[in-house]
Amino acid sequence: MCGIFGYIGPHQAAPLLVEGLRRLEYRGYDSTGIAVKNGAVTIHKKVGKVQELRTILPASIKGQIGIAHTRWATHGGVTDENAHPHASSEGKVVIVHNGIIENARLLRTSLEVQGVELQSETDSEALAHIIERELSIDNNPEEAVRRTLRQARGTWGICVLFTDHDTIVCARNGSPLIIGQGVEEMFISSDPHALTAHTQQVIYLEDGDIATLTATSVKLSTLTGGASDTKSSVLENNWGEAELGDFPHYMLKEIYEQPDAIRHCISGRLDRAGGSGRLGGLKLTPATLAKIPHVRLLGCGTSYNAADIGGLLIEKLARIPAVAQISSEFRHNDPVINPSALHFAVTQSGETADTISAIKEIQLKGGNVHGVVNVVGSTIARLCGRGVYIHSGPEQAVASTKAFSNMVTALTMFALQVGRSRNITKEKGIELIHGLQQIPHLLEEYLESQGPIQEAVELVKDAKSVLFLGRGISAPVAQEGALKLMEIAYIPCLAYPAGEMKHGPIALLEEGSPVIFIAPNDHVKTKTVSAIHECRARGAKIILIHEEGDDIAQEGDVCISVPKVHNLLSPLLTVVPLQLIAYHTALALGCDVDRPRNLAKSVTVE
Ligand code: F6R
Repeated sequence: MCGIFGYIGPHQAAPLLVEGLRRLEYRGYDSTGIAVKNGAVTIHKKVGKVQELRTILPASIKGQIGIAHTRWATHGGVTDENAHPHASSEGKVVIVHNGIIENARLLRTSLEVQGVELQSETDSEALAHIIERELSIDNNPEEAVRRTLRQARGTWGICVLFTDHDTIVCARNGSPLIIGQGVEEMFISSDPHALTAHTQQVIYLEDGDIATLTATSVKLSTLTGGASDTKSSVLENNWGEAELGDFPHYMLKEIYEQPDAIRHCISGRLDRAGGSGRLGGLKLTPATLAKIPHVRLLGCGTSYNAADIGGLLIEKLARIPAVAQISSEFRHNDPVINPSALHFAVTQSGETADTISAIKEIQLKGGNVHGVVNVVGSTIARLCGRGVYIHSGPEQAVASTKAFSNMVTALTMFALQVGRSRNITKEKGIELIHGLQQIPHLLEEYLESQGPIQEAVELVKDAKSVLFLGRGISAPVAQEGALKLMEIAYIPCLAYPAGEMKHGPIALLEEGSPVIFIAPNDHVKTKTVSAIHECRARGAKIILIHEEGDDIAQEGDVCISVPKVHNLLSPLLTVVPLQLIAYHTALALGCDVDRPRNLAKSVTVE
């Protein structure tokens, strides 16, 4: 949610800032802007994406220090005035800010009382004015930022430029900021992958940190004024291909990357001889595993759907009660935490504020949380300190695809590992491992021959709403299919466990209503087929996702078959046609597939 990029060094800042913004754009794209210091600081900002910003930038902007921002609006509408950077009244201070200042109303009112004319409706602008006021006390940039932030309540990742100082001061509280250390140059980014083109040496700021940067130095301190013990670290260099290549959209690229992403995820993590998983990062001894009373998995959106599948697998294989819960609800319900229970935080970005709050709630009440995380070194990965990296590589389309598959894969390996220590036989473990190893190849096979996706698109693209139904392990797959189609094609979608359909959603059906069924060849298939008949009897058009070689290929108006897999692994196959239906429907409707309206990739506000 909102992206920040900054530069200080020997090169011209503007091109680096614009390129940094391009890489961060998936974090928010309501407006973009840059500020470059060349004596005075000049600001260029505009509603729209980086492409629109480029249209207003002069051919050459001189200056070797600058900050940049791509916005996802929280306070104030999507206007040029509300776009970042924001300048103070006398123009001595320019800031970009991610996060939410909760006492902004109070700060803004007191500034107005002092005669400051605010130029925007944002919470962020207030910080620029207060920093300028504090700067007038001792002309010390770091102290001015520190004193200002002590007056603020809320969350921030903030970068500050000063007309009278060749320095950038940045600070973090709840919104990620990473400093990239180059040779006689420094970069700042809200996301590590915007740094990889420049340097591998990074400092992940922790909450409460303040960093004062020159081209050759980083001084770390804390909000309270003491020294910070935050350390420098090295970015992984095999993070994966972040550029689009020959694909028209990131979403399609990432759908096609799923076979390789799963190969990475399982590599070295399967004990073929013992029929078990080998997830070392969990740091769980067999004795601990044997005593787990229950498992809770937390996540939002797609990650919640993956967590839901993980919960079903854990319960099935390990015979431990396991439930997935939505992070944004969790802490508000004052949950009871059993310190012996196992908690997982499932997240692609590792920065989702709702999931961070849920983790903190568990930790506060004495529980441990394990991360199931994609972005290495992200806030949640560090907060949990233990867990599993899912190794999807960079996911840049707002609609998550390959991260979902790898979350399911990682949780499957965990379920297998605990299952083997408590319940299932070696033979059953080996059978599942064999199934997992086949998945990448089967996915490639399916992607080669995808079935009548366009026919499905024709049925859904003009529909008032689309119903997604599945049972058992396919119920969360239905949920995920509905989320995908809704978020990128803006079609209202409902997902239900198929058995629930007759308890309410059936009322929606009329002649021609599209209903998408996910019915792999498992023990609930015949029950799902009954629901298909009930929908058909009301005139619904059925899009059926099923398995090759089963006996239900005649049940749909449009039938899309996926290769046959181990029953417990079917979500890894059945989700792919749903991703493709969403993608092609969005295209058919002229939607911006990778940057759907109102959304952002990394939701860093609660
Ligand atoms: C859907 C989507 C979102 C995210 C959700 C959680 O395609 O991308 O629903 O899954 O915002 O994000 P992470 O996984 O980063 O915690």
